[in-house]
Amino acid sequence: MNAVFLVIFCCYLPTAKTLRVSSQITMFSKNYRPLTQQDSIENLEDSEKLNDAYSIQSTQNSAIKLLSRAVTRWALWMLVTSLVLTNWYTWVKLRSCSPPNAIYTLPAQSSIKYKNIVFNAGIDGDLSPYQGLPNAENNALWEGLDPQHYGVIISVFHQLHCLNNLRKRIFWNETTRGPIAENPDFGMKHMDHCIDSLRQSLMCSSDLTPIPYAWNTKYHQTLPVPATTHTCRDFEAIRDWARAEERRAGEMDVHVRVEDPLGNVEYTAPDSEDV
Ligand SMILES: *[C@@H]1O[C@H](CO)[C@@H](O)[C@H](O)[C@H]1NC(C)=O
Repeated sequence: MNAVFLVIFCCYLPTAKTLRVSSQITMFSKNYRPLTQQDSIENLEDSEKLNDAYSIQSTQNSAIKLLSRAVTRWALWMLVTSLVLTNWYTWVKLRSCSPPNAIYTLPAQSSIKYKNIVFNAGIDGDLSPYQGLPNAENNALWEGLDPQHYGVIISVFHQLHCLNNLRKRIFWNETTRGPIAENPDFGMKHMDHCIDSLRQSLMCSSDLTPIPYAWNTKYHQTLPVPATTHTCRDFEAIRDWARAEERRAGEMDVHVRVEDPLGNVEYTAPDSEDV
């Protein structure tokens, strides 16, 4: 659109100038006859009479010319104005639905693929294998979501780790509580951190997939249908990227301060009131 506008605008500029200049030349040359040495005063008067007769016709001609020039100019201006307005409108619209200028390039950007996934209702018979009381099978599935060997944490894996800890805490009983109760990963402070982290992440990605309502023949009322198709980032593709051997971080001793040649980044947590 911008290209079209530019081309037309660039073509219009010289055209407008040429129109004006060339019409001046035409009008000038029609009224102009060079003087010669033979021209006497009488001849000049004759020629003025001639010119008068000529200029009536020439006035009619130039009136038509002026009119056509005005029409051409008007048409061009309308074209340019409408293009400017269309461009401005497109620009405003695009700006409002584009990401902000500062987009952080993600290390895993190249791993992004999309696929359509029908969500599990997660209730009644439509359960996912991640659900139910924790057992060896679903625990393994949850642990498997996290590739676990990177030097930076990719947010999705952190959010899943948080969700898994919340799950374990919710489902814990006298038996399962014992081994993990003292672990700060399951303390209220960490649970609170996880809930708010998940809240921010959900709001950040703002899944816009509509969940329709339908008549539910089991409950005899209109209820949401959670099993809807979502266009998702392919999680497995991202996990495969993170699991790749070349991204294996190796052992990291978190108690050793490493000098970074690019400059150390340090984080000081603000003072807090513990939950
Ligand atoms: C505690 O929960 C686990 C699974 O989370 C289950 O296998 C076990 O039977 C439960 N124990 C009791 C006493 O409820």
